[in-house]
Parts: sequence; structure tokens; C-alpha cells
Amino acid sequence: MEHSLSPFIHAAFAAQTGQDVRYERLLAPLDDFAGTLAQFRARGGQGANVTVPFKQTAFALANIHHPRARLAQAANTLLFTEYGLEADNTDGAGLVNDLCRNLDFHPAGTRILLLGAGGAARGAAVALLAERPAQLVVVNRTTARAQELTQQLSGLGRIEAHELAQLTGQAFDCVINATAASLAGESILLPTGLFADGSLAYDMMYGDAASAFLAVAREHGASRMSDGLGMLVEQAALSFALWRGETPETAPVLQQLRARLRG
Ligand code: ATR
Repeated sequence: MEHSLSPFIHAAFAAQTGQDVRYERLLAPLDDFAGTLAQFRARGGQGANVTVPFKQTAFALANIHHPRARLAQAANTLLFTEYGLEADNTDGAGLVNDLCRNLDFHPAGTRILLLGAGGAARGAAVALLAERPAQLVVVNRTTARAQELTQQLSGLGRIEAHELAQLTGQAFDCVINATAASLAGESILLPTGLFADGSLAYDMMYGDAASAFLAVAREHGASRMSDGLGMLVEQAALSFALWRGETPETAPVLQQLRARLRG
């Protein structure tokens, strides 16, 4: 399933770079992602973005895996090449680019709390650890899953799994929501004192889906709040660069999107 804003983003990148790109949504049936992809390729498709719930399937189908996709065990970007199907994952780098470029938050040396241990959290953790935070703490509803994730990524940097209740009295510079809780209409209960002075609360979703967590974060004293719209644009720019060999400017597209969502 393709994200509804992505065609707009890629059309804007194509216009900006003068490249001739057609980017469309394709809905795959849950039981036949591979068939849908094969048909797309047969019609002349050159590459694809992949969204939930097909990121792991896309990764498994590929015969060439970029290291960050391998670490995330999931792909959001596919390229058809003469050597076969290449899988990459630009989600985590998109998050880091959004934090650094659009939000002026630089993870190096900071304390970051990551909520969630699913595919989205895994991609984020891989990219965040590459920035060398002082500490990356992962909390998940199912603690065993957070432990598994942190064990698998422990070679990449300082990453620890905790239970939410253990965090009382610990303050973070950035708290990132990578859970699907808001999609289930549920909010996340946070202990008090989680947000350090000047801290950033970030939800990897955007629009209404992000608002519940950001509202709770505000009540708990987060200084700044951001949804994940910038991440969506940044990951798209990285995918565009992989397909087209040219990196588009993200800031004007992000501005257009914000205006469009407000309007
Ligand atoms: P994604 O690829 O979007 O990360 P996922 O792999 O299904 O999807 O992971 C969903 C994440 O949201 C998990 O961390 C999940 O917690 P569990 O591992 O305990 O299932 C989390 N999540 C989903 N619904 C939640 C809820 N109502 N409260 C808290 N966490 C929730």
C-alpha cells in the first residue's frame, strides 16, 4: 500500500529536478505482494516505495540488501536493477535528516527514548545509533520485543531496553513515538519527569495520528513537539536519490505539504 502523500512529494521532486518521473499508488493484496510487484515491473516499473505491512516481505523478496535494510530487516525502497531486486531502507536516515535539518536536533551525545519495538522503531534505532547518542533507551508494551531489538543492535552503540516504570526520574533530550498505539485509538501513559529542559517530543506519524502523543508530551513538559511529516519528506528524498541519482531539496516540499494539510 502506498502512502497517500507520496505521489505529491515525488511529483514535487520531479518538477524541482526536471526529471521525468511517474510515481503512483499501487495497492497490493495482503497475500500477493510479490505478484503485484512482478506486474509493476513488467509494466516498466523501475523502483518502488513500500509501506506497512509489506516492508518485511519486500526485504525478503530482494536478492541485494543494503546494510541499513539488513539491520532493519525491512525495506521501504526497492530498485529493479540488472543484478536483480535491490532493497534499501531510507526511513531511519529520513528520521535523522528531519531531526538534524528541519528541527535542529542533533542526536550525538544526547539521551533519546524510543517508544516501540516494531519495524518502524527498528529502522529508527539503526539510524539513531549511527549518530552516536549518549544513550538510546527502548521501551515497548511487550518488553521482550524491546530486549530482542536491543540485543540485536547492541553492536551499533549504547542501546538499552527498559520498562516504562523504570524510567521515573530519568530525563531525555528527545522522546520518539514509533508505536502504532494511536492507530489503535490508545494513548501511551508516560511517567513524570521524562522530558529534559529543551527536549523534543517526536511522533513518527503525522497529522491527527500524531496529535494524541504530542498532546501528552506537552502536558508532561516537552519543550518542542513535532510530527513525522518531515521524516516522510526526507525518506522520500533519499529514495528519489537512489532511483534518480539526484537529491532534491526537501524544505520547500515540506512547506508546501504543511500548507496543504492546513488548508
Ligand atoms: P510498525 O512496522 O509500524 O512498527 P509493528 O511491527 O506491528 O508495526 O509494531 C507496532 C509497534 O507499536 C509495537 O512496538 C507495538 O507494541 P507491541 O510490540 O507490544 O505489540 C506498538 N503498539 C501497538 N499498539 C500499541 C498500543 N495500543 N500501546 C502501546 N504500544 C502499541
